[in-house]
Amino acid sequence: MTWEELERSCKRCEKCALCDTRTNVVFGVGNKNARVLFVGEGPGENEDLQGEPFVGRGGQLLDVMLEIIGLDRKKNVYIANIVKCRPPKNRDPLGVEQEACIGWLREQIRLLRPEIVVCLGRIAAQVLIKPDFKITSEHGKFFDVDGVTYTALYHPAALLRDPRKKPDTFVDLKALQEKILQLAPEVYSAG
Ligand code: URA
Repeated sequence: MTWEELERSCKRCEKCALCDTRTNVVFGVGNKNARVLFVGEGPGENEDLQGEPFVGRGGQLLDVMLEIIGLDRKKNVYIANIVKCRPPKNRDPLGVEQEACIGWLREQIRLLRPEIVVCLGRIAAQVLIKPDFKITSEHGKFFDVDGVTYTALYHPAALLRDPRKKPDTFVDLKALQEKILQLAPEVYSAG
């Protein structure tokens, strides 16, 4: 399947009940040749309205976090979510919704073949790294999952709720930058 075919089918998806309440399917944004993939949990209100991941206050913070380590959603990363449609009232996506949706992300990962996957928050880390992932003690650590390097950062919304977590995230971002320099130095040399 090509990116175009995948996006077209995903946008018509009716695999779970979230399709009844969505405005837009939020497929993903960024460079389809990116070596680094960021994965959030699911769209919120602004994302549902605009059809793009991380465009609200959390998204602005994510853009600052990316900028700190020389990344840019328009240039050298791809950003997607575990679920592509907004859960009502921004509740956590249910297990059945995650299971119905995860195939779309798996296919995005297959097409992108990223060197590094960065989970934003506990939910993405529990789905992609391991079910018992503890964000408070395991953020910023690196994991090998089927030959690909995964890590997790606090979710931008968690940083907005509790700014005392920001210094830890700064350290994690710097470690991530080092890891990118090791595994995919072209991220910083291209363009
Ligand atoms: N939170 C997420 O996890 N993803 C988005 O796209 C927006 C907010």
